[in-house]
Amino acid sequence: MTRLAERRVGDLVAERPERARVLEQFAIDYCCGGQRSLADACRQRNLAVADVERALDVKGERPTDQPDWTQAPLAALVADIVKRHHAYLRAELPRLGAMLDKVVARHGDVHPFLHELQRTYVAMWEELANHMLKEELVLFPHVVRLEEADASGGPAPRFHCGTVLQPIHVMEDEHRSAGNALEKMRDLTNGYRPPADACTTWLALWHGLEALEADLHLHIHKENNILFPRAAELETSLPLDARLD
Ligand SMILES: [Fe+2]
Ligand SMILES: [Fe+2]
Repeated sequence: MTRLAERRVGDLVAERPERARVLEQFAIDYCCGGQRSLADACRQRNLAVADVERALDVKGERPTDQPDWTQAPLAALVADIVKRHHAYLRAELPRLGAMLDKVVARHGDVHPFLHELQRTYVAMWEELANHMLKEELVLFPHVVRLEEADASGGPAPRFHCGTVLQPIHVMEDEHRSAGNALEKMRDLTNGYRPPADACTTWLALWHGLEALEADLHLHIHKENNILFPRAAELETSLPLDARLD
């Protein structure tokens, strides 16, 4: 059997989603960096690969509250991403944004890093709002049409500007940008460790931002490491639609 170290980090989480928590603890990026092998990821973070392998070797059955997304219909995966992760961001981004406004107004003079945190957060928020719309209006419906064509034995619907890889690459670039913003926010906040003079709103904000980071990592992982490769593979397996050439 292939050692965990030789396998891609994104595939390890796709196989057993509970491994995401372990990788988060070791600060190993499994969403945008999901293409690297576990051995490479450990080298980059100066971690002993055997320790991480041991922690990842989770025994037991897959939790039953989540289907196996590597096998479930793509339409179900798309619906889960929109209902679970996009809805979460649409609720949390404004809520945390308002808390951040308060904390900056109250403590920004004494803790100037809060201004930079706010700039990074607002830019990420704007980018994610547009990003989710592009996925929901363009890419996701196209993926569902690919699956319908497969089920009916019909030809692949053509993407208006080429193949499905084009919008996928744009989405992956935007994921990298969101991943960089999350990393910057983690650095600026010293790993979300609150200072001694943090008020209640500040503590709740750090907690909310850390939860948002974990959800966004899982969200990007489902898209980058499961949905996009499955959609690209499905497209190449279908006959081309000559009518649209
Ligand atoms: Fe998304
Ligand atoms: Fe996305």
